[in-house]
Amino acid sequence: MTSSPTPPPRTIGEFIAAGEAYLARHGVDAPRVACELLACRLFRCPRLELFLHQAETPLPRLVDAWRRGLKRVADGEPLQYVLGEWDFRQLTLTVDCRALIPRPETEQLVDLVLQAPGLWSAADPSAKQPLILDVGTGSGCLVLSLATERPQARYVAIDASAEALELARANALRCGAAERVEFRHASGCGEFPAGSVAAIVANLPYIPTAEVAKLERHIREHEPVQALDGGADGLDIVRAVARDAAMVLRPNGWLFLEIGDEQGPAVRELLEELGFVDVDILPDLAGRTRFAQTRQGR
Ligand SMILES: C[S@@+](CC[C@H](N)C(=O)[O-])C[C@H]1O[C@@H](n2cnc3c(N)ncnc32)[C@H](O)[C@@H]1O
Repeated sequence: MTSSPTPPPRTIGEFIAAGEAYLARHGVDAPRVACELLACRLFRCPRLELFLHQAETPLPRLVDAWRRGLKRVADGEPLQYVLGEWDFRQLTLTVDCRALIPRPETEQLVDLVLQAPGLWSAADPSAKQPLILDVGTGSGCLVLSLATERPQARYVAIDASAEALELARANALRCGAAERVEFRHASGCGEFPAGSVAAIVANLPYIPTAEVAKLERHIREHEPVQALDGGADGLDIVRAVARDAAMVLRPNGWLFLEIGDEQGPAVRELLEELGFVDVDILPDLAGRTRFAQTRQGR
């Protein structure tokens, strides 16, 4: 006896089940989650409510969009780019191939800035409206989170990529933070007057050039190489921005960096050579050393 072919999916629940099997066959990680998030986006419902719509039959145009989205994910495009938006702390940001997809561990970099001793203290008159730079802003996730959670500061977002900056600007409008952030197309932050900046936060490219080709395909083929490649030892851009920071930070001004988990000792050395003090190399929630926090020593 031959088994009868599986009937084509009709309901949202059946589309999700069939999509999960299709993505699993294409080796996509967490295929169920990918299908549920895609379904929520297309059928416009929060994930917790998806089960309420399982028995509904989607409109044909949504089925077409579903198939196109599923194929892009199966072909290796990051789910976040296919969805076109992604959550970061309190914000939902537009994401596309112009900038790096905001990573969950980067949310912790915002906590470090929010908790920096003295940075927000009203006892220091210049701290009332500190000038804070986000160098290598990408989607704008860091600066827009800070501008939302600490609206009293002045913010400048900088990127060497005009395309990334365009996306960050669009995200500022989307988050209602456009009036609190200035955007500058520049390499590094050496243009600011000496001693004028209260804090710099930067998640710069830090992957050694030779490692970029070994990254997972969905990263290597879709995220901008300018957001990943940090030169021979991965620290070319970190080094250049740390040099700029040493000039433009005010005395006791803060520098916060996201770094690779094996770069702690090299980053500590380069920061100390530049005269930074109280260098802390800090772990993410998974225990990997992923952040450097330090103060201008002068
Ligand atoms: C790793 S991505 C981080 C994006 C975003 N801050 C985040 O955390 O998701 C690094 C960003 O730095 C930018 N960049 C690279 N070299 C730069 C430089 N010399 N000056 C300013 N930005 C630079 C890239 O264009 C990219 O948008």
